[in-house]
Amino acid sequence: MAGRLEGKVAVITGGASGIGAGTVERFIAEGARCVIADIQVDAGAAFAQKFGNKAIFVKTDVANENEVEAVVAAAVKHFGRIDCMFNNAGILGAVGPVTEIPGDAWSRSIDVLLSSVFYGIKHAAKAMIASGNGGNIINTTSTAGLRAGLGPHVYTAAKHGVVGLTQSTSTELGPLGIRVNAIAPGGTVSGLTAWLVTGSSDNLTDANSKIGVSNPMRRAGQPADIANAALFLASDEASYVNGHVLVVDGAGEVIGDRNHRFVQLGSQIVQETGRIGL
Ligand SMILES: NC(=O)c1ccc[n+]([C@@H]2O[C@H](COP(=O)([O-])OP(=O)(O)OC[C@H]3O[C@@H](n4cnc5c(N)ncnc54)[C@H](O)[C@@H]3O)[C@@H](O)[C@H]2O)c1
Repeated sequence: MAGRLEGKVAVITGGASGIGAGTVERFIAEGARCVIADIQVDAGAAFAQKFGNKAIFVKTDVANENEVEAVVAAAVKHFGRIDCMFNNAGILGAVGPVTEIPGDAWSRSIDVLLSSVFYGIKHAAKAMIASGNGGNIINTTSTAGLRAGLGPHVYTAAKHGVVGLTQSTSTELGPLGIRVNAIAPGGTVSGLTAWLVTGSSDNLTDANSKIGVSNPMRRAGQPADIANAALFLASDEASYVNGHVLVVDGAGEVIGDRNHRFVQLGSQIVQETGRIGL
């Protein structure tokens, strides 16, 4: 049976680890060929080798527009086309009180988290328009891009920016056959979150239990959960989905546990009074 991405070519930034690596695996399993774009040279090259002629690694700093343009060109040169651009690379960025964040730390964080997405949309769209085949672009935002209080200030601002840029460009590029969507993961086990919750980016086991404990699904998000969302958005099944932000958080963060508490309160009232409603 043909895969859901048979014949398609995707560039996946941050593809050497975490969510990006999970997406490379899922996309290739569904028939795609992938360009892994990352600053981690050894890990990225070794990971690409696992997939033989289905993947190549291109060292890319997504904060550098020339390098993003070059990785899009590499996809077209090596595989002959680009159908999907997954702007996914990211970092936690500058942390701390707003009064103490240095201006250059703000700028570098915005470059990696938001300007990178602009560069990715711009150069992928140019290549897709030139090909005449259309395509789709997926941007990784975060639940922190939808409400405050789920990440540091700069990260929150950048991820809100990713939502705005996704929605804004979707209306310009939609008529050209290019869909632009975003995924907003909740707490997902990766090197980034392992470092955040355990102090070590390798401690995925402890990160898994720490992140999962407060989620209504009683488990942490996994890279495969986000990869499955990316697969849907990259596939033709999503051909009428444009400008959408797909939240993948087990209802843990955007809805939050206030709703959960209200449900508990409701059942208590029903049990005690036999009434439905307040
Ligand atoms: N893990 C979560 O809980 C979570 C939640 C919401 C959003 N996100 C977002 O998901 C994306 C992937 O993060 P992850 O959790 O898989 O973390 P990760 O650290 O495992 O992966 C991030 C990847 O991006 C790469 N990268 C960092 N800076 C780069 C640069 N300048 N140029 C190119 N590559 C660069 C890293 O080398 C790494 O391979 C990020 O945008 C992150 O903000 C993650």
